[in-house]
Amino acid sequence: MWSGTPLFPDQASAMASRVDALYFFLVGLTLFFSLLIAGLIVYYAVRFHRQHPDAIGTTIHGGTILEIMWSVIPLLITMVIFVWGASVFVAMARPPDDTLNIYVVGKQWMWKFQHLDGQREINELHVPLGRPVKLIMTSEDVIHDLFVPAFRMKADVIPGRYTNIWFQPTKPGRHHLFCAEYCGTRHSGMIGEVVVMGPTEYQTWLSGGAPEGSLASTGAKLFQDLACNTCHRPDAQGRGPVLEGLFGKSVQLLSGETVTVDEAYVRESILTPAAKVTAGFQPIMPAFQGLVSEEQLLGLIEYVKSLQALPQVQTR
Ligand code: CUA
Repeated sequence: MWSGTPLFPDQASAMASRVDALYFFLVGLTLFFSLLIAGLIVYYAVRFHRQHPDAIGTTIHGGTILEIMWSVIPLLITMVIFVWGASVFVAMARPPDDTLNIYVVGKQWMWKFQHLDGQREINELHVPLGRPVKLIMTSEDVIHDLFVPAFRMKADVIPGRYTNIWFQPTKPGRHHLFCAEYCGTRHSGMIGEVVVMGPTEYQTWLSGGAPEGSLASTGAKLFQDLACNTCHRPDAQGRGPVLEGLFGKSVQLLSGETVTVDEAYVRESILTPAAKVTAGFQPIMPAFQGLVSEEQLLGLIEYVKSLQALPQVQTR
């Protein structure tokens, strides 16, 4: 609808038209009241201007109906904005269950994308048309912000934390990708493209690379290399918790708290294991802070996630 208008980017995701509808409603509402108020000011100034030098206006002491109207009408309008805005926000914030997950690492000054099948890309992201995609993003240095105008999608990328956003591309082609948070000298050059391809084309693209194997298998290798497997054994005889079937579950900590095993928890437990120790275990794991890169962490996390698929080991 707006493709010919230079001010508006393409609508290339399932969310784009919803965001735009709300945006145009707000612009329209603002225009309507601005014009109404400006018009009334001019009209009353002309209509009720002083006609004789000694004329004095009537004194008015309030008007209940008027006051109720100017309270209730704005209340109703703001509630419409709130409910509408919240529904769009929730839809944007909650990815569907069956997303295609892709990891993103921001770095001065480039975007690194890591597909689960093992492909890595820099400043270019290939995704299949019509499939909901979830980006799990972190930064290696400072705060960046991933912005794809055609998808109406924008989120901060923060060091030490995973931010999730999702989109469902509805239009094949190349869409601009920007860093939208000032991050240093070459911030303006931290740009790229999202390439939306048909599903078959995407499969061909996927099978074209990945000599190193999947991200989970890279993680599995690192798990051996770092000797994680000496303590985290699948048979519950190790000195560390069994990782099979752990991801997504809740665990009880030494402190009595309960945490959900998500990307952030796995990350923290690798970098600073003493922060949240599982109940029943000694805080003997060495810290890996500074020893593994963000990308290696993603491999390890994906490996822990992949342990879901294996038959679960009985611990009783
Ligand atoms: Cu990265 Cu601005």
